[in-house]
Amino acid sequence: MTEPFVRVEALPDHVGETVTVNGWLYNARGSKGLRFLELRDGSGIVQVVVNEEQVGAEAFEAASSLTQESAFRVVGEVKADDRQRGGVEVQAASVEVIALAEPYPITPKDHGVEFLMDRRHLWLRSQRQWAAMRVRNRIITAIHAYFQGEGFIQMDAPILTGNAVEGTSTLFELDYFGEPAYLTQSGQLHGEAMAMAHGKIYTFGPTFRAEKSRTRRHLTEFWMIEPEMAFYDLAMNMEVAEELLVAILRAVTADCRDELETLGRDVGKLEAAMQTPFPRLSYSEAVDLLTGDATQTMLDAEQEGLEDEKHALEEERDRNRAAYGQAKKGEKRRIDAREIEINVRLDEIAEGLRNIPTWKASARDFEWGSDFGASDETVLTRHFQTPVIVHRYPAAVKAFYMKRDPEDDRLALGMDVLAPEGYGEIVGGGERATDLQFLRDQVEAHGLPESAFDWYFDLRKYGSVPHAGFGLGLERTVAYVCGLPHVRETGPFPRLLGRLHP
Ligand code: 4AD
Ligand code: MG
Repeated sequence: MTEPFVRVEALPDHVGETVTVNGWLYNARGSKGLRFLELRDGSGIVQVVVNEEQVGAEAFEAASSLTQESAFRVVGEVKADDRQRGGVEVQAASVEVIALAEPYPITPKDHGVEFLMDRRHLWLRSQRQWAAMRVRNRIITAIHAYFQGEGFIQMDAPILTGNAVEGTSTLFELDYFGEPAYLTQSGQLHGEAMAMAHGKIYTFGPTFRAEKSRTRRHLTEFWMIEPEMAFYDLAMNMEVAEELLVAILRAVTADCRDELETLGRDVGKLEAAMQTPFPRLSYSEAVDLLTGDATQTMLDAEQEGLEDEKHALEEERDRNRAAYGQAKKGEKRRIDAREIEINVRLDEIAEGLRNIPTWKASARDFEWGSDFGASDETVLTRHFQTPVIVHRYPAAVKAFYMKRDPEDDRLALGMDVLAPEGYGEIVGGGERATDLQFLRDQVEAHGLPESAFDWYFDLRKYGSVPHAGFGLGLERTVAYVCGLPHVRETGPFPRLLGRLHP
């Protein structure tokens, strides 16, 4: 499609030409006879210079009337200018107002998260949100590229289902013409059927869990990528997960540098995370690490680091405040902006300092047999720069469909991949049970209705083979890659407890 205008990201290819650009006003400043408009068009932001002598009084008046987020069109010459983003600016020949915006609710001020979440439909336009959605897009394309390159077939699992997959406590139930139905928790069981038809498949779709607690990693609606492979065992499954994560990290570190910079993400950490092989720890080894001295020493060092950082920031804030009275206007603005940054970081540090003693106690007291909680995972991952794979969990904490470890019947051949820097579980999966009677017993033991699984049992009647797979949570992956503290900023319209609008 040849567009009758040029997108901001393509402007560097048009230096010296007169082009049309369309967009919204991101910011503006100016003086008598001269306006600098920051035009945002979704692909980027460019500075438009409007000179009254060049555009005439009427167009200059129009340009001056633009409020934040007003839509407008500019015809002008693209000029190279190293000081500008993208190395260009547009010298306006004409400015046309498309729609003046009412006073925009989201200003450069410090807004609370709930205020912003209520205005998510507008908040999406701001730079950090824009950057995170671009990274999400790149992660999605990297996932498809990886699987397609490896010969997987993408297939869609149903959203409306008649059976639970991941326990019954998080089901969203609805009435399907008089029959109970559920929004799918995972495409896995249907994925297993697809793998028996196609060998290697992956599903990529929305999944739902009625998560009733507020955490930074639980959504009620999230997207899951679920590969399922016939004739794969647990070790091969771990290799696929590792390769997929490396493919994602390669893609974002190669193609999303600007976005990651906007997000303040330390790209060095993502690069360090690509070193393979990722450590593989059995659950028992992970428990030893968690409860051992190394964890206590690490957390002590972290606590000291946070305290030092806190003092340094407090001193900087005091110095800034002392200088404020004498400061010029521009300098005052810088100090105000820095004060917001410092306060945000100090809040994070305070949270860290509150958490560490709790983590230390709960790590020390962790008992073999329990599932890792969010804080245990957070602590474990801090020992490694790369994701870490934990395998062979106690069967009692895992789903009904997991194969038992032939070497130790207490264990299931499950695996989780925990992302570094405290992000924790982003992948869950494992080798599947192949024995019909074992599965029937498990369904009963988990209190699931046998009749809903008749079709699933068929997969064990007609050519049951070893197979394995996993689910990668897209939003948790985006949170980790972007360095976001909470999954609510990882998708355009997140759904979580207490959040159905907009
Ligand atoms: O560990 P889970 O529950 O595993 C399954 O659903 C398997 N049936 C997948 C499979 O083997 N095909 O979920 C897999 C991943 C988690 O590691 C996490 O990344 C994500 O899905 N996830 C959530 N993400 C956001 N909000 C939630 N409430 C999530 N629950 C799981
Ligand atoms: Mg899990």
